[in-house]
Amino acid sequence: MTRILMVCLGNICRSPLAEGILKSHVDLNHYSVDSAGTSSYHIGQAPDPRAIEVAALKNINISMLRARQFSKKDFKDFDIIYVMDKSNYNDILKMSNSKSDSLKVKLILKETHLDTIEVPDPYYGGIDEFSKVYEMLDKACMSIAKKI
Ligand code: 4NP
Repeated sequence: MTRILMVCLGNICRSPLAEGILKSHVDLNHYSVDSAGTSSYHIGQAPDPRAIEVAALKNINISMLRARQFSKKDFKDFDIIYVMDKSNYNDILKMSNSKSDSLKVKLILKETHLDTIEVPDPYYGGIDEFSKVYEMLDKACMSIAKKI
């Protein structure tokens, strides 16, 4: 079983979308996928309604997910930790205790051929920003699914 964790700031927009999308592309008998936020802002909350909506348009249900905060234990519990932006990357690296922990952390868009390496935070945007984030994450998750 390969264990993959998706991480963003709030765990209500980008990382639950990434979790739902990757789950739709892999065999869940062999891969486990979860998500977490670097902040405590939204612990226990469902994904943002706009994230739920753009996923539902592609028949992906993320409405049952609940936000949790990343903890040091996640370095033990996961094999690969995909982060959405450099700020997430720096926050997670600060919590790592070893070289092997830090090597697990990767910027998710480096899995794509897109020019940008950060998934923009759509929280203060509209539904169009969420749709753009969905398309970026779908590209990344398709190439992750091909590779793993
Ligand atoms: P996410 O988006 O990191 O993709 O879940 C955000 C959600 C909430 C906030 C920021 C980003 N916030 O500041 O509350």
